[in-house]
Amino acid sequence: MPHDRPSDRPTDRLSERPSERRNAARTSVVWDALRPVLDGDAVDVLDIGGGTGGLAVRVAELGHRVRVVDPSPDALASLDRRARELGVTVQGQQGDLSTLLEVTGPDSADVVLCHGVLEVVEDPAAALATLRRVLRPGGTLSLLVGQRHAAVVTRAMAGHFAQALALLDGGPASSSARDAGTGRSGRRFTDVEVTGLLEAAGFTVGAVHGVRVFADLVPGSLLDLEPGATAALVDLERAVSVRPEFRPLAAQLHVLAG
Ligand SMILES: C[S@@+](CC[C@H](N)C(=O)[O-])C[C@H]1O[C@@H](n2cnc3c(N)ncnc32)[C@H](O)[C@@H]1O
Repeated sequence: MPHDRPSDRPTDRLSERPSERRNAARTSVVWDALRPVLDGDAVDVLDIGGGTGGLAVRVAELGHRVRVVDPSPDALASLDRRARELGVTVQGQQGDLSTLLEVTGPDSADVVLCHGVLEVVEDPAAALATLRRVLRPGGTLSLLVGQRHAAVVTRAMAGHFAQALALLDGGPASSSARDAGTGRSGRRFTDVEVTGLLEAAGFTVGAVHGVRVFADLVPGSLLDLEPGATAALVDLERAVSVRPEFRPLAAQLHVLAG
């Protein structure tokens, strides 16, 4: 079972290293929301599109049985190295959302992590229907997706006005994750769209958090030079994450659903 507390773990303390400090500001809201789900006896956790396993190894460190399914052999090799370095076991398997049920079978996970993946699949509605079947009754889906309004602002501020305009109405109904209407790196979702998709797939939506409201906008040098700035930014991210009025500014939305 989970063998240590958040404050005891090095990854939960604010690091001295600049890249890790910024990372803490970006990931703290998601980790905070997930921790209560992961506090308890060891359960089966599936990380679909888990990539190089940054989150999977943290979950495995808590004592859970973690499986990553990802189409990228390179990512799975990195996951394997990362897990071995940390002395945890994470089962990596090549596959994707379209064949997930064949790989894992139905009702095979107590917790499903789907972070940064719905943006790139061909059919988000079908993907969520698959995750519904993989998740055991009473289980929890942790879904992290790019939030569209913030992406429009980011592209406009970078001078990519045509991209910003195209992204304005690009949504889950767009024909392809790679078409111009959804931006360079896949779809983006509004909170209404993502909760609507979840409900249509048979999920009950729980907590919704806005993620990275300010973290991507703050100059890295400020976090590097100003003592206590990262901790203060993490506090601010936590505070605004639960305020619906800040959701349109969040780079990502995190949703727990069951
Ligand atoms: C943006 S990365 C996110 C990685 C990780 N979940 C995270 O949050 O850091 C997207 C991941 O989805 C994987 N992926 C791409 N298409 C997929 C699909 N159809 N089904 C499942 N995973 C997919 C990629 O190989 C990549 O590892």
